[in-house]
Amino acid sequence: MVSFEEILAREGLVKNPDVLSPHYVPENLLYREDLIETIMKELAPALKGKKIKNVFVYGKTGTGKTTSLKFIMQKFLEAKERLKTRANMFYMNCRIYNSRYRIFQNFLKVYFPEVDKPGYGLSHFYEKLIELLKRGERIILILDEVDAIKDIDELIYTLTRSNDDSKEGGLSIVGISNKLGFKSELDPRTRSSLYEKEVIFFPYDAKQLRGIILQRVKLGFKSGAVADNALSLIAAITAQENGDARYALKLLQNAADIAEKEGAELLEEKHVELARRQAEFDIAAEALKNLPLHQQLIVYALAKMSINKAKVKTLFEEVGDGYFFSGDLYNYYTKVCRALRKKPKSARSYRDYINELDNLGLISTTYTSKGIRGHTRLIKIGVNAEDATTIIEKQIGI
Ligand SMILES: Nc1ncnc2c1ncn2[C@@H]1O[C@H](COP(=O)(O)OP(=O)(O)OP(=O)(O)O)[C@@H](O)[C@H]1O
Ligand SMILES: [Mg+2]
Repeated sequence: MVSFEEILAREGLVKNPDVLSPHYVPENLLYREDLIETIMKELAPALKGKKIKNVFVYGKTGTGKTTSLKFIMQKFLEAKERLKTRANMFYMNCRIYNSRYRIFQNFLKVYFPEVDKPGYGLSHFYEKLIELLKRGERIILILDEVDAIKDIDELIYTLTRSNDDSKEGGLSIVGISNKLGFKSELDPRTRSSLYEKEVIFFPYDAKQLRGIILQRVKLGFKSGAVADNALSLIAAITAQENGDARYALKLLQNAADIAEKEGAELLEEKHVELARRQAEFDIAAEALKNLPLHQQLIVYALAKMSINKAKVKTLFEEVGDGYFFSGDLYNYYTKVCRALRKKPKSARSYRDYINELDNLGLISTTYTSKGIRGHTRLIKIGVNAEDATTIIEKQIGI
């Protein structure tokens, strides 16, 4: 029988778990030196009391935008102290500070503590802002996830006006977003103001992802605890998944958990595979859990058909494997409903559901021009079929 002392004496693979946490900020941000310098060059004149452009930072998720801007802010505040200038920088996540009101209140309270109390109107904030700018303050707001601001047009309008109303100081923004469609949805005037200078963070490639996780492995793991090919596998998987560094670090962390639970001395490829399967399952579960019942039942029917595909004709040379006729899926879905004593939805609602599931990426659809049924819709499941059945069975209690 094992003793507690023996269990405690077993050393894990990870000696410093903090470096794997999403909140850890590495001292060296790899591969982003040039982008960081580009942004620093845009912001630097503010330290000399000069006007600067609004900067817009775009890049897919996990490309290092937030981390880079926090790094830049730290450098800026240090320089401001050394140079003793009237400049300041504030960081806000706009999922929390999601309106002009909240944004103004959040930075104005640093200068005018009374505005933190409720009851002040926007016009009061505006007066205070002008007072501040007239003193010659140069303020830069880093607005992360800027697409979440509900009244962005009004915010930009107010900023432009405040800059016009006070020649001495200035207020500029660095907007950050990972939403590709955001720019085109903006009012043209807001757009040209917000995008005076645009900086794009490209996704990391496999080599860079390898470098990023290797940096953490060196800081956080016992030496020799991670196999080289396990690192390469994480890098290869995440390079395919949009080059997302956050996902790479998550995979590393989960693979380490799995390896440690096994009591393994070495984190290997098989642990990464298991961690990937787990991550896929979690993502599918999250998406499926939130669906209305009949959409779950459609996905369930499709998953069952995909698993039993040997029995059904599924091969369409023009589109590839795994597709089913929309009509066949509808029939199977109604059977599932009957078995569960639920009333199936009409064919019309079914078509709407299919469109929604397609938009969510839980299924993919295409059309065939050939074949006996002519121009029909074909449907394929977008998540692992076994996972989907497990998740939905649990969800609806079958
Ligand atoms: N170049 C890098 N070197 C080291 N770690 C990095 C690098 N880039 C990103 N990371 C790490 O990856 C994770 C995600 O980075 P970050 O939060 O900056 O991404 P983001 O571009 O802001 O993503 P999102 O659009 O989802 O907000 C963080 O844990 C960060 O520490
Ligand atoms: Mg971010």
